[in-house]
Amino acid sequence: MTPNRWSDLDRPPLNETALRRALVTGDSLWTQLEVAESIGSTNTELAERARRGDAAPGAVLIAEEQTAGKGRLDRSWTAPPRSGLFFSVLLSPEPPPQRWGWLPLLAGVAAAGALARAAGADTGLKWPNDVLTTGEGGERKIGGILAERVGADSVVLGIGLNVTLRQDELPVPTAGSLALAGARGTDRDPLLRAVLRALADWYARWTAADGDPTASTLLETYAAGCVTLGRTVRATLPGGDELVGEAVAVDGDGRLIIASEQGVQHPVAAGDIVHLRPATGE
Ligand code: BTN
Repeated sequence: MTPNRWSDLDRPPLNETALRRALVTGDSLWTQLEVAESIGSTNTELAERARRGDAAPGAVLIAEEQTAGKGRLDRSWTAPPRSGLFFSVLLSPEPPPQRWGWLPLLAGVAAAGALARAAGADTGLKWPNDVLTTGEGGERKIGGILAERVGADSVVLGIGLNVTLRQDELPVPTAGSLALAGARGTDRDPLLRAVLRALADWYARWTAADGDPTASTLLETYAAGCVTLGRTVRATLPGGDELVGEAVAVDGDGRLIIASEQGVQHPVAAGDIVHLRPATGE
């Protein structure tokens, strides 16, 4: 018999009605919420809806399956149906656009904190916004965030989180999931509620501070959760150049400051980071 892809009892569907009731309330940031069975990419679809005028700020689009999920740096994001949380939100931020670079880092802080509380997982952030589990199994990427500008006023923030992914389903050996990290909670409905509530709380705090990462305490919270800091790293920069050094700080623009062996500090705004080893002295 051909296995039915929806027959996996470990992977029940999300409850759209209950999610909407819990999250789309009068005073909430979230204005609409839809759970789609299958979508190419929730980021692409929500951006298209926004351009057509079919999605308002605060819209949340969730897919049980993505057939063309996108990652950072032109990579893809793949995961079996219902094995995680794959969703995008549409935001029209009030703070000035030069502060919007903090949004994906803000989403990382919100997701890592929410998963730690709701799933009981040890989580951390790899710069800029990979969500990791950091327990006994070592550091493994369980989540990623992709922010895309839509026109002059809006941003689509897409979040992918691996919840019940099994070892044989991992896209790359460095990936993981909440289940593989032994998390106590892998029920996706409460996890999604926790992440969206944390995202709304951090967004409100950041907006109230006009996007200032220090006044909103976003920078210090990000730095406290960022396991890249203090490590020796190799950065592959967008042009292909490589930089090896110690990750010493995150600056007010969200850039990673890498100190070379010669002691020169290089701010890195975008790129791929590999953690090589603990910093000297650890
Ligand atoms: C990364 O780590 O490279 C970012 C991954 C982002 C994946 C999410 S899943 C929901 C949303 N839709 C997409 O196509 N991508 C993001």
